[in-house]
Order: sequence, then C-alpha cells, then structure tokens
Amino acid sequence: MRSVTLRTTYFITQIRSCSSNSDTVPTQQQPAAHKTPKGLKEKKKKENVIKTRRQLCQPVLDSFDEQYGRELANLWPSARSVLLDPDSWQYGVMLNRFAALSDIINILQSKGFSSFLPQTHAPFLPNNSSSAIPLPRQHGGCFLHPKPVHLPSQAHWPGVLKQYYLLNAASLLPVLALQLRDGEKVLDLCSAPGGKALAIMQTANPALLCCNESDPHRKEWLAQTLESFLPQSLRNRVILSNQDGRVFGQSPAGTYDKVLVDAPCSNDRSWLYSSNPQQGAQRLKDRATLPSLQAQLLRSALGAVRPGGAVVYSTCTLSTYENAEVVGAVLDSCPEAELEDLWEELATPFSAHFTFIHPSQHRHHQRRRCGLLVVPTPGRTWGPMYLCRIRRRG
Ligand SMILES: C[S@@+](CC[C@H](N)C(=O)[O-])C[C@H]1O[C@@H](n2cnc3c(N)ncnc32)[C@H](O)[C@@H]1O
Repeated sequence: MRSVTLRTTYFITQIRSCSSNSDTVPTQQQPAAHKTPKGLKEKKKKENVIKTRRQLCQPVLDSFDEQYGRELANLWPSARSVLLDPDSWQYGVMLNRFAALSDIINILQSKGFSSFLPQTHAPFLPNNSSSAIPLPRQHGGCFLHPKPVHLPSQAHWPGVLKQYYLLNAASLLPVLALQLRDGEKVLDLCSAPGGKALAIMQTANPALLCCNESDPHRKEWLAQTLESFLPQSLRNRVILSNQDGRVFGQSPAGTYDKVLVDAPCSNDRSWLYSSNPQQGAQRLKDRATLPSLQAQLLRSALGAVRPGGAVVYSTCTLSTYENAEVVGAVLDSCPEAELEDLWEELATPFSAHFTFIHPSQHRHHQRRRCGLLVVPTPGRTWGPMYLCRIRRRG
C-alpha cells in the first residue's frame, strides 16, 4: 500500500513535468540562491531539446516518399507531416485492471484524458458472461488525450503491479478484432515486447494465452513485461514460448481458438529515425525479405488455429507489400481461409479517433476489401497500423 502511494506521488510529479498545458499546473518556485542565470538556462534547454530530438534518416524518407506517394496518393503528405513531427505524436494509456486504479483514473480525468472505447463496445468492459476463470472484474480500459501529452513509463517496483502501459492506441484494434471470449485458447505468435499480450489480458480471461517470441533477448523483455503487469495467479495460464513462428502451426496443429500475428515489419515510425544512414540503408535492403517471412508466419498461424477459429494479421507499416499483398497471396493459396470485413465492426465505431483508409480509396485494395489501414493524420496521429481477420472455415 505504501509503495502504491509513493508511486502515485511520483506519477503526479511526472504528469506535471510532461504536461503540454503547463499553465494549468502550478510549478514550484525555486529558492532565489539556486536560480540559474537566464542565458545558461536557455542554453541548457536547447541542449536538452537537441539530446532528445530524433535524427531523421533521409534514405528511408526518400524510399517512403517514392512508395507511399504512389500508394496513398493525396493521403501521404498528411501522414508524412505527422511522421516527421514526433512532438505531435499522441500516446494511449492502457490501464492494468489487475492493479489498484482509482487514483490514476481520477488523475487522468482531471488532466483531460478520456476513455476512448465506446460504451457499446463489449471488449475491455466488465464482462458478465459466465466464466470458468474467476478474475477481477475491475474495468481497466484505455485513456487518450487530444493533445500529445506523454506520460512517463512507470518504474519497476518489486511486488507491485504497474498501473498502465503506454501504447499507440491503434495497437488495440488488432486485439479488438480477435473478438476474444472468456475461456478461449489464444496464441500471440510474435509477442515481444508484449503490449498486445497485455491488451489481450485486459480484454478477456483466456483459458490459455501462449506468448511466442523467437528472439531470445526480446523474449526476456516480454517476460519482464508480463511479470510487471500480471498477478502470480495468472502465470499458469499465460505461458511463454520461443519457437520460430513459421513452424509453430505444425505442432500441435489446430489447437487455438484465436491467433494474433503481429508480424515483424518495416516499422515506419522507428525506421524513419534509424540511428544512422547505414542502418537505414540496411533496413531498406532487408525490407524485400519481409513479405515472404510474413506470409510464412500467417500460413503457420492458419495451421495453429482450429477450424472455425480466427487469425488476426497486423503490422505497423503503411506498405502494401507487407499488408494487403501478403494477405492476398496467403488467401490465394489457402482455400480454407476466408477474409472477414472489419469496416462496420471497427472502422465505423472508431472513426472519430482514427483515420481509416476505406479499401476503395486505396488503389491496391480495389479488387478485394483486404483489411483496414490506420493512417496517421494531424490531430489523429495514431497508426500506422494495418489489420485484417481471416476465419479458418469449419
Ligand atoms: C511487431 S513486433 C511484435 C510486437 C508485439 N506484438 C507487441 O504488441 O508488443 C514483431 C516481433 O516478432 C518477432 N519475430 C520475428 N521473426 C519471428 C519469427 N520467425 N517467429 C516469431 N517471432 C518473430 C520479432 O522479434 C518481434 O519481437
């Protein structure tokens, strides 16, 4: 209890220091003897800005201009302006329903955050269905701010569960697309660092959540995330695996009710700020290999899901080659796989928050309604995020 109070104090201090509307938050007066001379203060401020400013990687931007200018046409300048302005990026606050929350909810609301899920949307709300798994029914949810207010991540306190996880709110859409029900067996095929696995655990009470990650270092990171957010009592239902996801579907086949493939991809936001031009150039070179890896992961997921179950495929890139083209190729070779339309289910209810591309607006989607694409636009900076749901015929 004591550490919860301490941590809340820390949280309030941090929320003040990062709040963009500092005029509403009283700042502490420094004692006169410790005041820094004005010029020095300005210099320090500038240095800090330079330290935190991300370095744009020109080869990556040139490549995106060429590809996305062609694919997204008049939406690209808008997305481009957001991607090139990290100060405008918004951050979602996903609450952890397994931690004590009332203080945080009050603080978030007093700072202008609001819950973003419509009341009619069943997942993330307390669930009344009968469940074999008795879990807390506290309502967590996700809070958004209309401005780019960035809360600090919470520090690890041994034995105390973290209260919130910061994420791009568009990352919740693939989890909502899973339409999770209590008691299901769920596979998160590419799981680290674990944001969507946590969202799954906020949404439902699965009988089993298998979090798979092939990279050993990232698996450690995933383990730490799960430990910081989930109570001990859930550990036997949330298991870690570190197989190559491409062969996961072979054994045991058809086991899972739902599978999430949050695939390795050209992460548009982070690639634009590659640490040096060489890294950016290497990434662009390796980019050509991604669609084949993604298609193998998606086929493997279709092997792991039971007949009648569903696979959600997602990426955080705008690239058609890694999105609709991968899905189209897999559908063409898997007669038992059927694409489901998410427009009414997700784009319509969430259109106030996200800019979705209607498939008919996208040149490459004209032949087939192949999923949803969230494109960052000024004021709605969420995304890039692509998602689609594929049902394995029963
Ligand atoms: C986009 S990230 C996943 C993000 C995660 N779902 C989340 O929400 O925090 C993709 C992950 O896939 C992993 N990965 C890459 N190749 C893989 C493979 N063959 N099998 C399983 N995981 C793989 C990467 O190491 C990376 O951690």
